[in-house]
Amino acid sequence: MVKIGLLGCGTIGSGVVELLERDSCRKNDLSIEKILVRNKDKHYNKPYGCKLTDSFNDIISSDVDIVVEVMGGIDPAYFYVKQSLLKGRHVVTANKDLIAKFGSELQNIARQNGVRLLFEASVGGGIPIIKPLKECLAANNITEIRGIVNGTTNYILSRMDSSGLDFETALKEAQQCGYAEANPEADILGLDAARKLAILSSIAFRISVNYEDIPVQGINNISADDISLARYLGCSVKLLALSRKTDHGIMARVAPVLLKNTDSLARVSDVYNAIVVKGDAVGDVLFFGRGAGKLPTASAVVGDIFDIVRHNMSSQGVEDCKLEDPAPVKLDTAGCKSDFLIRVKVNDRIEAMNIIAGLFSRFELIFPERAKLGRLIDQDQVIFVAHDIYETDIDKRIDLLGTADCIDNVLSILRVEGEA
Ligand code: HSE
Repeated sequence: MVKIGLLGCGTIGSGVVELLERDSCRKNDLSIEKILVRNKDKHYNKPYGCKLTDSFNDIISSDVDIVVEVMGGIDPAYFYVKQSLLKGRHVVTANKDLIAKFGSELQNIARQNGVRLLFEASVGGGIPIIKPLKECLAANNITEIRGIVNGTTNYILSRMDSSGLDFETALKEAQQCGYAEANPEADILGLDAARKLAILSSIAFRISVNYEDIPVQGINNISADDISLARYLGCSVKLLALSRKTDHGIMARVAPVLLKNTDSLARVSDVYNAIVVKGDAVGDVLFFGRGAGKLPTASAVVGDIFDIVRHNMSSQGVEDCKLEDPAPVKLDTAGCKSDFLIRVKVNDRIEAMNIIAGLFSRFELIFPERAKLGRLIDQDQVIFVAHDIYETDIDKRIDLLGTADCIDNVLSILRVEGEA
């Protein structure tokens, strides 16, 4: 009998309990011995009530073989996971914050103690991505990762687009479905996606990427006007996590972008995630599935538990994917150019166009037909796509645009991925 100690019994934890109670899991002789929760009273009427404890000591001093950490966050998860590895327990975690920050350190501890640390659920919810990157695509030099890796923001953007919901209502729905982080700012501001991108990039490019170095822009400033303008242009707004090998290193960023509806990622809606991995041998491979939520995430967690059981609870001869030791990797944005869709509120259209022409050598004005737009965008706006702007230059030009007397306000700036 393989004994499991579960740390946390919220959305994902209760999903893990549910899956492990299924007959197919029972046949594998897996049993949850103890469940660590903060407040036992909250779970008093649950069938697993007798397994609850509020003390980590009860778990680590028992004879559990695998510790499953689904509490999220760094504190106290880092301490608990480290102690578990030091005490010779295998660990399965869904915690991207923990893996993005301490993954390589914890992996080294696992190795030194002859146990395994698996974290498939930390990126892409139920989508198998970590193992395929390491194993199935091992023959490739991976050159690019493009993905929608945050279910909450994808859900919000999709609901704003399909049902005209406002941001707050869509966020509330995502929270009710159990997709959002305890503090949804990590989702909304793009930090959760940056952590996941750092983990994927580290595995794919075999180079340590510090998530704090990744330039991040969230969806907090995306308005209903942006969404309907995108639709008018045959595009969708998506929070895109992108990393790519360049001549000078790695470029990485997380930002809302306009994706042409013919792009496979543009059609990814609701809580679904999708990741396109580009390998030099295989070309593009698309991974797609539910990126958050109780059972999809639990599915990845339980898959890792099975992996440990399949290898007879041993780390001998098993080569798990390695997160590289932290090294100062300078992310490269210097040589990267993008197109940007820009909306400004003006008080003098002619003068504003002169300013725009002076700041952006190649640009295209957009005059949306009101009838086709589906909502009224104020007449006093100028909308244009600026082409081929160096990433390092855009802020400076937007600042200059904002200071012109004829321009009241820069309303939005959205990167355009591919041809818009
Ligand atoms: N809050 C995360 C998301 C959960 O929405 O994608 C899954 O990591």
